[in-house]
Amino acid sequence: MGALDGKLAIITGGSTGIGLAIAERYAIEGAEVVIAGRNKGRMDEALARIGHGARGVVTDVGDEAQVQRLIDSVPRVDLLVTCAGGAVFGPVETVPMSAWRALFNDRFFGQLSACRYAVPKMAEGSAIVLCSGIAGHAALANYAGGAGLCGAINAMGRSLAIELAPKGIRVNVLSPGLTRDTAIDWGVPASQVGAFLDTLASNVPMKRPGVPRDMADAAWFLATCAYATGMVLDVDGGWTAV
Ligand SMILES: NC(=O)c1ccc[n+]([C@@H]2O[C@H](COP(=O)([O-])OP(=O)(O)OC[C@H]3O[C@@H](n4cnc5c(N)ncnc54)[C@H](OP(=O)(O)O)[C@@H]3O)[C@@H](O)[C@H]2O)c1
Repeated sequence: MGALDGKLAIITGGSTGIGLAIAERYAIEGAEVVIAGRNKGRMDEALARIGHGARGVVTDVGDEAQVQRLIDSVPRVDLLVTCAGGAVFGPVETVPMSAWRALFNDRFFGQLSACRYAVPKMAEGSAIVLCSGIAGHAALANYAGGAGLCGAINAMGRSLAIELAPKGIRVNVLSPGLTRDTAIDWGVPASQVGAFLDTLASNVPMKRPGVPRDMADAAWFLATCAYATGMVLDVDGGWTAV
């Protein structure tokens, strides 16, 4: 018996990094998992790793019609986890506005539209896990648009939590700290990413970056704790406690 037996979980961004770890964890706990991402090759590799009958729907979450098609492909939604999207880093005077707009389109409107189409298919007892990042409350340089985005997602999660509580739908936000072993483009050559993250992590109280499995542990809690709603859960090795 798994804690998520009989649950149908949609996980956007489930083909790499944090979303993949959550998909693996939910599948091991008994959920029927459907992942979404843009790249079919990456998705197929992820599905082979997740096993347990998981399936994928190629989806660009920045395109509302594709999000609607993803939700149309399932009979109901018990768990919705929205991890799809990347990051953009750089000084405010050099990052083009189009890059910040694209980031908002994928990560803010992508998550909002997933909720828009999934909620009518969610019964009492179901749950939504949005994904932001600690930049929503911890100041990070060279991430002005991303910080604003994370704050917006946190606010969206709290608003949806009180809106959907009467329907018995819980809404929480997973707010990852620095997390390694993901496909995020940190703006440094691939061979230097490990050292780059270790340097950043020297300021983290736990002195290490997180790993996707840490985020999956938190997403499991948010899927199963029946009294958790309206939370922004920072999983960051103590970064935001300092
Ligand atoms: N890693 C960190 O330190 C960190 C910290 C704070 C917050 N976060 C956030 O956590 C979330 C997961 O990130 P991650 O670290 O696991 O990065 P990742 O390994 O790059 O995973 C991102 C996932 O989203 C998918 N994706 C990207 N754009 C998409 C789109 N438009 N439509 C559908 N799928 C899309 C990617 O697959 P395809 O490319 O195939 O579409 C991939 O599966 C992101 O929102 C990220 O910004 C990460």
